[in-house]
Amino acid sequence: MPTRTMVVAKRGELAVGTTKKFYLDCGGREVEAFVVNHRGEHHAFINQCRHVPMTMDWVENQFLTEDGCYLQCATHGALFEPATGLCIDGPPLGKALHRVALEWRGDDLIALCPTELP
Ligand code: FES
Repeated sequence: MPTRTMVVAKRGELAVGTTKKFYLDCGGREVEAFVVNHRGEHHAFINQCRHVPMTMDWVENQFLTEDGCYLQCATHGALFEPATGLCIDGPPLGKALHRVALEWRGDDLIALCPTELP
């Protein structure tokens, strides 16, 4: 599968405590993912819970708990650490969301297709 990349945000676009969904074309397969700005650091994950393979956001682009501390699956309420994707409460306890690698190229935040897809 060829590695594909895309610009998901510009520098300064995502305020701390906000998220943005995007779609990656990974070898002809569309992968839904999201990026979160957590305390100034950007992290991205495939938008699929580790309990049941469902999207995390019931309400479009709503991934964070009200206090902004955790990512939350809307289906059964599992909580995940934004920096690691690790589930710290809920049915998929101990499992982590599938990370999407990010890198900055100038002012562009680039997402890279994962080498393995769930
Ligand atoms: S589907 Fe996410 S916690 Fe059950």
